[in-house]
Amino acid sequence: MTAPRPLVAGNWKMNGLKGQLTEFAAIIEAVNSGGAGHAETAICPPFTLVAAAADLALGGPVAIGAQDCHANVSGAHTGDVSAQMLADAGAKYIIVGHSERRTDHGESNATVRAKAKAVLEQGLTAIVCVGETKSERVDGTASAVVGGQLDGSLDAAFDPDKVVVAYEPVWAIGTGLTPTAADVEEIHAFIRGKLEKLFGVKGQSVRILYGGSVKPSNAAELMGVKDVNGALVGGASLKCADFMGIAGVYR
Ligand code: PGA
Repeated sequence: MTAPRPLVAGNWKMNGLKGQLTEFAAIIEAVNSGGAGHAETAICPPFTLVAAAADLALGGPVAIGAQDCHANVSGAHTGDVSAQMLADAGAKYIIVGHSERRTDHGESNATVRAKAKAVLEQGLTAIVCVGETKSERVDGTASAVVGGQLDGSLDAAFDPDKVVVAYEPVWAIGTGLTPTAADVEEIHAFIRGKLEKLFGVKGQSVRILYGGSVKPSNAAELMGVKDVNGALVGGASLKCADFMGIAGVYR
């Protein structure tokens, strides 16, 4: 099976007013000029900018994503946004189970699985995040933790073509710290094995992104690791030059 097409996705988190769309427009222009090579690209702005970003991106190669959704399609859930609404606004990807949501909002694996199911039901692709804390890494339980998150957040009934896994060690997010290439290779191989068990041969083509302090200076090394099929980029996705410095490794 040929390696899956890499995906470099930007997660803007709770950052970005309307003015930030000029940075997004610059990313579109850079990707249109071939700056991301054979990689797919996506930007996941806050909910407030999803529709405007989708209008800007229309027809182009930069997909729009969102950072979360509710598990239900509609109803009495004040303050929540459904996958159907996000599809309607132009999103193609939805991140679910980011560690900041698991921590800030107490999201369980069962919640993440329900959200991923809701994403797939709209024909969108779910970016399902997993990752261990520093103490779990130090204790040697990183694989067990990530394995448990995958078991609880994915489902054999999911369409593997619509699932992306993002391995994001919690201690590497926003800290400037990254695991060694050897550690990334080991855990991505473990995740690949889990995906093959769950989805059979189709598990070989599920993209496994690395996330956590990816920047232009470390992107080539991290993206060069076996079974790393792209990146989920936080802070560095807010600036066109940084985002393209990462996506540019696929030129
Ligand atoms: P970071 O965030 O690149 O700022 O470390 C990554 C993420 O949380 O998706």
